[in-house]
Amino acid sequence: MSKSLQAIRGMNDILPEQTPLWRYFEGTVARLLDNYGYKQIRMPIVEFTELFKRSIGEVTDIVEKEMYTFEDRNGDSLTLRPEGTAACVRAVLEHGITGGGQVQKLWYIGPMFRHERPQKGRYRQFHQIGLEVFNLDGPDIDAELIIMTWRLWGELGIRDAVKLELNSLGTSESRGRYREALVEYLSAHHDKLDEDSQRRLKTNPLRVLDTKNADTQAVLVDAPKMADYLDDESRTHFEGLKARLDAVGIPYVLNPKLVRGLDYYSKTVFEWVTDKLGAQGTVCAGGRYDGLVEQMGGKPTPGVGFAMGIERLVLMLETLEQIPQEISRQVDVYLCAFGEEAELAGLALAERVRDELPNLRLQVNAGAGSFKSQFKKADKSGALYALILGDDEMAQQVVGFKPLRGQGEQQSIAWDELAAHLATCVVQG
Ligand code: HAM
Repeated sequence: MSKSLQAIRGMNDILPEQTPLWRYFEGTVARLLDNYGYKQIRMPIVEFTELFKRSIGEVTDIVEKEMYTFEDRNGDSLTLRPEGTAACVRAVLEHGITGGGQVQKLWYIGPMFRHERPQKGRYRQFHQIGLEVFNLDGPDIDAELIIMTWRLWGELGIRDAVKLELNSLGTSESRGRYREALVEYLSAHHDKLDEDSQRRLKTNPLRVLDTKNADTQAVLVDAPKMADYLDDESRTHFEGLKARLDAVGIPYVLNPKLVRGLDYYSKTVFEWVTDKLGAQGTVCAGGRYDGLVEQMGGKPTPGVGFAMGIERLVLMLETLEQIPQEISRQVDVYLCAFGEEAELAGLALAERVRDELPNLRLQVNAGAGSFKSQFKKADKSGALYALILGDDEMAQQVVGFKPLRGQGEQQSIAWDELAAHLATCVVQG
């Protein structure tokens, strides 16, 4: 195929053989969020560039290097959203739904875009399920977010393969004091820092903490610790969160170097990480952002949230072979009809059955074909049963009912009784 007809690097098709697992994952998360009382919000994929600059931060990797930004026909600078929090805050402000202290517990799902170097688990178009809560400032809601994900990992069968890392960044005041101390310390060791960290020291010093460079890591061993600079309020908040996680029995690791790549966080930050996916091990990440709404022009409004990467979690389900059996079967029953008269009767019969069993996955053969070819298609569809309508069945107003997966002999079922019979043999999702 010519190059111009290929998908863009890092932007993937999700093929029919993959979508059942995606839908299982998305359905499991959506049900869980419903059960915890979260409501879905849908935002546009494109926003004004300014929105992301103001919220994520001008000197973050995302804004500096990774955004898909373009001018539209009006000359406005637009950007394909690299994440969901900024747009969600914009939407709640624009529609006034967090005014007067109204609590909002929201979730969203969809594609995000970052011009990163593609590799396993890291793409340029990827998908997130994200969640944002507004107007609750206590550690109880931070705990709820984490408890909910813990339950999700349990339902998905991947709990043993993920680890929770936790930190508190404090309020912007305490973070400011810490930043000063860190800059002073790192400046004294400037020559030992790698080039990127030297640059970050000037632009975004806290990001030096999550450097991968061994020399810089060695310098960091004796650097001032964020925990020593935490204000009392943040400390109490963090203790409250830990107490709740302890009460539910959720293990965590305190990681004082966890700072996150977006500037809007304060107090709680967390990441769920795994060692099953190679370098791209963070499957879900988030934290509190109490200053963001105000920074974007709203009244002071506490916020907290997280987002999980669907590609990474689907990869984990595959890697750990946690794929429920029932999702591999897409068809329950396959109807084969031989001859024009049988085909017409088959169509009508199928509709009657669908009226009575709306959840039955019934596929009617299309494209006619010999007995052998229709049977082959029935078998390949993965159906549990074939329904057969030929001359004999037409004459007797019955349908042949044939188990395809080795459970018993073929029998004849009267048309009127077909739906009731199917209801007893097919467990419907
Ligand atoms: P984030 O850490 O940038 O946070 O992204 C959240 C998750 O999205 C990551 O942990 C990862 O699973 C997935 N992800 C990020 N980039 C990629 C990529 N290039 N390819 C595949 N997966 C990726 C945020 O986006 C924040 N908005 C989360 C948040 C919500 N914080 C508060 N509320």
